[in-house]
Amino acid sequence: MKLKHLLIGALVLALPATAIAATPIVIKFSHVVATETPKGQAANYFKKLAEERTKGRVKIEVYPNSQLYKDKEEMEALQMGAVQMLAPSLAKFAPLGVKEFEVFDLPFIFDDYTELHKVTQGPVGQKLLKKLEPKGILGLAYWDNGFKVMSANKPLKTLADFKGQKMRIQSSKVLDSEMRSVGAIPQVMAFSEVYQALQTGVVDGTENPPSNLYTQKMHEVQKYATVTNHGYIGYVVVVNKKFWDGLPAEIRTQLDQAMKEATAFGNSQSQKENEDALAEIKKAGKTEIITLTPEQDAAMRKAMEPVYKDVASRVGQPLIDEFLKATGAASH
Ligand code: LMR
Repeated sequence: MKLKHLLIGALVLALPATAIAATPIVIKFSHVVATETPKGQAANYFKKLAEERTKGRVKIEVYPNSQLYKDKEEMEALQMGAVQMLAPSLAKFAPLGVKEFEVFDLPFIFDDYTELHKVTQGPVGQKLLKKLEPKGILGLAYWDNGFKVMSANKPLKTLADFKGQKMRIQSSKVLDSEMRSVGAIPQVMAFSEVYQALQTGVVDGTENPPSNLYTQKMHEVQKYATVTNHGYIGYVVVVNKKFWDGLPAEIRTQLDQAMKEATAFGNSQSQKENEDALAEIKKAGKTEIITLTPEQDAAMRKAMEPVYKDVASRVGQPLIDEFLKATGAASH
């Protein structure tokens, strides 16, 4: 046999070992919203950066739109290690047993993104992330979405309009109490089921930032949306702690850096994405956009005030005060 052939033979024999060594670390990143949302875009940007920085040693598989798991299931999947990364909304951490996250869902707790960032990018936000660790979860970053509108098939302006309306909410005691405070009937439902429930009349309305409403086509089955900005929806990017701690240190550093940059990228455009989505909803012409008068806004704020007491009874007033102090708001 010629030397050339021997060399080729040796190379072929060596191939499986090389191939095994080059097998990338796979991170399954599951989420429930559309790719065009702030979360969807940040997830894809993180994938791009992470794969570039690790030179392909890490492969990020992003599964949007509840393709893999619905809300509740995805948390279980993360803890069991069936997926490695998620970005559930802040409301979804209290049902996991970390009830301190309830404060994020309080009505009118943040006036704008600047106030929000004082919490999410400050010591209070960091303190809350630490509370996830005993659940086997590491919180890597806060990702923004936006402020909620209330949609329904009737115009929701006064408290009388809310009376008896069945409103879909996320699984959250705060949101339950918020809807009851205005006279509506809250109904917990997974995000993936909302469009159909609205279409078939299982529920009358819902609350979400415009980006979620628009990308799930909810505006096609809702006649009105009131720009109440009464609450905020954002996310914590979480990983399975055991998995993350077990990564080679060098890879973890590269992924941490990619996450930092993806967070800055995503958070810099979420406000605009929600403004654009609201403009698109208007343009589509199926949903009438309502703005409250100052009197209607004041009446809603007043009606929702008792929700603070309710949350204080579970997480303690001091934590709510910490949030208010960080945002610079007057006390409730
Ligand atoms: C919802 O369930 O309404 C949303 O929080 C979904 C999401 O992740 O934005």
